[in-house]
Amino acid sequence: MSAALPSTSREVRLVRTPTGLPLASDLEVVARPLPRPAAGEVLVRNRHFQVFAGLRTLLGGETDGLPLPTVRPGDTLFGPTLGEVVDAPEGSGLRPGDRVEHLLGWREYASLPVAQVTPATDRLPDPVARLSSGASAYAGLVRLARLREGDTVFVTGAAGGVGTLAGQLARLLGAGRVLGSTGSAAKAERLTALGYEAVYVRGRQPVDRWLREAAPEGIDVLLDTVGGEQLTAAVRAARPGARFALVGALAGQLAPERHGGSAPTEIDSFRVITRGISIQGLNGADHPGLGEEWLTRFADWLRADEITFPHHRIPGIERAPRALEDMLGGGHFGTVIVDVDADGARELGASQR
Ligand SMILES: NC(=O)c1ccc[n+]([C@@H]2O[C@H](COP(=O)([O-])OP(=O)(O)OC[C@H]3O[C@@H](n4cnc5c(N)ncnc54)[C@H](OP(=O)(O)O)[C@@H]3O)[C@@H](O)[C@H]2O)c1
Repeated sequence: MSAALPSTSREVRLVRTPTGLPLASDLEVVARPLPRPAAGEVLVRNRHFQVFAGLRTLLGGETDGLPLPTVRPGDTLFGPTLGEVVDAPEGSGLRPGDRVEHLLGWREYASLPVAQVTPATDRLPDPVARLSSGASAYAGLVRLARLREGDTVFVTGAAGGVGTLAGQLARLLGAGRVLGSTGSAAKAERLTALGYEAVYVRGRQPVDRWLREAAPEGIDVLLDTVGGEQLTAAVRAARPGARFALVGALAGQLAPERHGGSAPTEIDSFRVITRGISIQGLNGADHPGLGEEWLTRFADWLRADEITFPHHRIPGIERAPRALEDMLGGGHFGTVIVDVDADGARELGASQR
C-alpha cells in the first residue's frame, strides 16, 4: 500500500440506541485508524453510500429473522456503497481504481474479504444509479405480481427509493393505470410528473375512500412498501385474481412507538379467499440473477431516456447523520445518497495510488 494514504478514516457510529426514530444526535462522525487489510481482503475507498429506511430496523434492534445484525452503540453503520479499490490481493482480479460495490458504507475506507465485493462495471450511464432500489421494484412487479398489460397498479410509498422507480417501471411494463401514495402534496405533484395518474396523500382522507374514487373498478396489482391501513384498504379494493407484492412495511418500520421490525395490520382474509388474491413477500435472496437482469434493463431504459433515477445527493460524510434523520422524516424524494467527499464528483486522486 502507498505511504500517501491517510492515517485515519472517518466513520459514522451509533452513540446510543435511539428512543423512537433515530435522530442525527444519536450518531457521531469519528476518525479511526485506517483499516489494514488482512490476508485476502481488499481496501476500498468509498465514494457514495445509500441512506435507507431499513437502518431504522437495524438501529431499533428488532432484527429477528433478518440476515443483517443489529447496530449497537459504538458500532459503525453499514449499507450499500460504491467505492474504488485502493489495494487488492494478488490474483483477486481486482486492481487499484476498479469501481466496486459492497455493504460497508458509512465510512471513508473499508477493508473486507474479496468475496464480499462486487465489481461495478460501467454499464449504467451514471454509476451512482447502482445505488438505486430499482431491483426490488422490478422483482416485485415482474416476479411477484407478474404485471400484465392494462393492469391497474397501486404503489404505496411511491416517493421512496423503491416507489419512484416502481411507478415508472409499471408504465414501461404496460400497466393501464398507475396510482401511488405519499406523505405530502408537494411529493404527490412530483409523482404526477413521473407518470403517476393519481396520488393519495397520507392523512388527507381515509385511504379506503380515496381508493374507491381513484380506482372504482379496483386494483389488479399492489406494490406495497408501507403496509398498515394502506394494505388493509388495498385488500378491500382488490379485483378478482389481484396479485400483491409486499416489499416493505414503512408504516410499522417507521412508527416511533415501535422498534422497526414489525408491522401488524388487519386484512380481511375472507376477501383474500373469495377474490383469489395472492400475497407474496419479497426476499431478495429468493431471486438469484435478478440483479443482473435488472441492471441490463435499467441501463437500456436509462440510455433511451425512458426512465429516470430520482435521487437526492448529500455532499460530505459529516452530513450523513442529518441525512438519515431527514430521510426517515420524509424530507427527501427518491433514493438518498451521501457523497463521502463534499465534492463527491472528484475522481480518485494520484495520492491514493
Ligand atoms: N424486500 C426487500 O428486498 C426490500 C428492498 C428494498 C427496500 N425494502 C423496504 O421497502 C420499504 C421502502 O424502501 P425505500 O428505500 O423505498 O424507502 P425510503 O425511500 O427509504 O423511504 C423513506 C420514506 O418513507 C416514507 N414514510 C415515512 N413515514 C412513513 C409512514 N409512517 N408510512 C408510510 N411512509 C412513510 C417517507 O416518504 P413520504 O413522505 O412519501 O411518506 C420517507 O421519505 C422499506 O420498508 C424498506 O425496508 C425492502
